[in-house]
Amino acid sequence: MEKKIVIAVDGYSSCGKSTMAKDLAKEIGYTYIDSGAMYRAVTLYCLQNEIIENGVVDEVRLRSAMNQIHISFQMNNESGKPDTYLNGVNVEKEIRGMEVANHVSTIAAIGFVRQAMVEKQQEMGQQKGVVMDGRDIGTVVFPNAELKIFVTASPEVRAQRRYDEMMAKGEPAIFEDVLANVKKRDLIDTTRAESPLCRAEDALELDNSHLSIAEQKAWLLVQFNRVTRE
Ligand code: CDP
Ligand code: CDP
Repeated sequence: MEKKIVIAVDGYSSCGKSTMAKDLAKEIGYTYIDSGAMYRAVTLYCLQNEIIENGVVDEVRLRSAMNQIHISFQMNNESGKPDTYLNGVNVEKEIRGMEVANHVSTIAAIGFVRQAMVEKQQEMGQQKGVVMDGRDIGTVVFPNAELKIFVTASPEVRAQRRYDEMMAKGEPAIFEDVLANVKKRDLIDTTRAESPLCRAEDALELDNSHLSIAEQKAWLLVQFNRVTRE
């Protein structure tokens, strides 16, 4: 039997990480874990409970609320992706909106939030057989992951993909706002003090600006077969 491994997919916002991680997991029978959804769920909790007001986070209240924030995933057979649950409520739709997107990188830069999420992510990957996407999976969460991918694409391509996705779902969006959000999150994610987004030394880099979803999946499958059969 092939050995089970951990696959870490990191990269900039909206570059196709979750699409490729989800597609690969399905193909090889692994569990897909969307670490960004966890930071988004914490952000939603903060917005719902006025822990973020006017863009300012009440860190004292958030620290004491951390043990009341329970995040879990449950497979949605229709979308083929796990839905995110916050304290037992399906929040998949709410966490993808612009309000959460506008605040999530601020929440994700807080050290005690990261510690709690990383601990949970490590627990979820303990048995291996997982594909996890995020910003620090190959550097912090699973530094010993057997396969690490770092995905890039130009900000304009990424914003266009996110914009098209929102329009297809019937969500109102303005391209310039989406582009500004992508650039702002990249800046916060790459410059924060706590585990900033960066390519792990042993990660394979993939610029998928001009790759289709099928092409990137095929590329990833080749990498998976190489690592598991060597
Ligand atoms: O899907 P998209 O690339 O837009 O973002 P995401 O993966 O849902 O992540 C949302 C935000 O959470 C990112 O912009 C980061 O600020 C943060 N994040 C993080 O700090 N570390 C991770 N492992 C995953 C996400
Ligand atoms: O997870 P991340 O934020 O990195 O990106 P995603 O949610 O997987 O992908 C963002 C959008 O780009 C989705 O609508 C994908 O279908 C699309 N995409 C694409 O058009 N071409 C690719 N090569 C990869 C993703």
